[in-house]
Amino acid sequence: MSHFSYQNGVLHVENVPLSEVARQFGSPTYVYSKAALVENFSAYANACRSNGRDGNGALVCYSVKSNSNLAVLNLLSGMGSGFDIVSGGELLRVIAAGGDPRKVIFSGVGKSHEEMRLALSHDILCFNVESTAELQRLDQVAGEMGKKAPVSLRVNPNVDARTHPYISTGLKENKFGIAYDEALDAYRTAARLPNIHVAGIDCHIGSQLLDDAPLLEALERLIELIDRLESEGIAIRHLDIGGGIGITYDKDKPVAVSDYLSRLFTRIDAWRRERYQGAAIHVMFEPGRSIVGNAGVLLTEVEYLKHGEAKNFAIVDAAMNDLMRPAMYEAWHGVQPVRQREGATLVYDIVGPVCESGDWLARERRLALEQGDLLAIMSAGAYGMTMSSNYNTRGRAAEVMVDGDKLHLIRKREEPASLFALESMLP
Ligand code: LLP
Repeated sequence: MSHFSYQNGVLHVENVPLSEVARQFGSPTYVYSKAALVENFSAYANACRSNGRDGNGALVCYSVKSNSNLAVLNLLSGMGSGFDIVSGGELLRVIAAGGDPRKVIFSGVGKSHEEMRLALSHDILCFNVESTAELQRLDQVAGEMGKKAPVSLRVNPNVDARTHPYISTGLKENKFGIAYDEALDAYRTAARLPNIHVAGIDCHIGSQLLDDAPLLEALERLIELIDRLESEGIAIRHLDIGGGIGITYDKDKPVAVSDYLSRLFTRIDAWRRERYQGAAIHVMFEPGRSIVGNAGVLLTEVEYLKHGEAKNFAIVDAAMNDLMRPAMYEAWHGVQPVRQREGATLVYDIVGPVCESGDWLARERRLALEQGDLLAIMSAGAYGMTMSSNYNTRGRAAEVMVDGDKLHLIRKREEPASLFALESMLP
């Protein structure tokens, strides 16, 4: 069910007109639907449950990088979510939001000493280790702290996720994970290190996958490896298949989470029955986009209409610093007028005020527009706010969460003075 719909010609988030959001909080503003978030997380939780994974059998570790607002993290934590983090900063956010550090897994290729110490001091669930050099460092840091670090090795299964090259991570040429052929040796090393405890295995092959076939292919590679490891006496307690399920931006039809999870669990159950007398393996997921992506829009106002020789431009108050995805990946986001307007349409490029030709949010959209109109840039809940910057000394957008007919400001608009508050002049 869509939580973004027109009522009396005005685009609403749940029961709140976006014009009301703009009136109260201005623009640009990210606006999220609580109901959409709950529904998207529940798709995972319910699929785990209906495939016999209650309580301990599975854990959904929401990928914090996709949207890290405390209100989002707090809401998901309340629904039982764990968290996939990639920095010490994200761990502190999770804790500040009331999340349980013992449900946190720590991914990323470049964990610092300090980040390892922080995570160990909070007894996180697992480090997803991406190289043998990282294993050595973690062993040393854990030793200094008198702890044993739980690890999973991020294996690169070398499958083609068939998605945008910038968000595909499971191929040999990517910087992520440990090469499949080297994984066995890396596990042998891990098993020998005194301050490392081998807990599991993980992979993440890419993002915005519309089809689950590459994920199921990755699962096969992990299964082969787990069988090899078990035969050498290296026990693997959990299998983390990563995130990656896509959302609808344009006409994309992503696989339903329930279908994907049911195929995945069916295969895992058959394998466990065949090889391990049905002994369970804990299954983990790291979804980001499929939970928040379609739950948010970026609300923006048309500042000027400019009719150039070759193109018509709608210059809006949101820019590439607010939503990087179009500039960075040529990503397509839907654009919907907040108030449906009669009248002549023109084909517009929707651009921001930033001094870069790459500063566009959408291209060649047929719209009836006037100065002062509000627009919603759709499907902007994931990798929108988290990738925003202060380029051009622009304060970051405000964030609002709608719950039924209630509006909650969950992040204030950044004031310009705060943008240079940490700077100082020469004496
Ligand atoms: N786990 C790991 C280790 C990851 O690197 C990622 C995303 C995820 C989980 C979550 O993947 P998801 O379920 O959201 O597909 N900025 C890009 C996307 C970058 C994805 C990075 N890794 C974008 O805007 O499309």
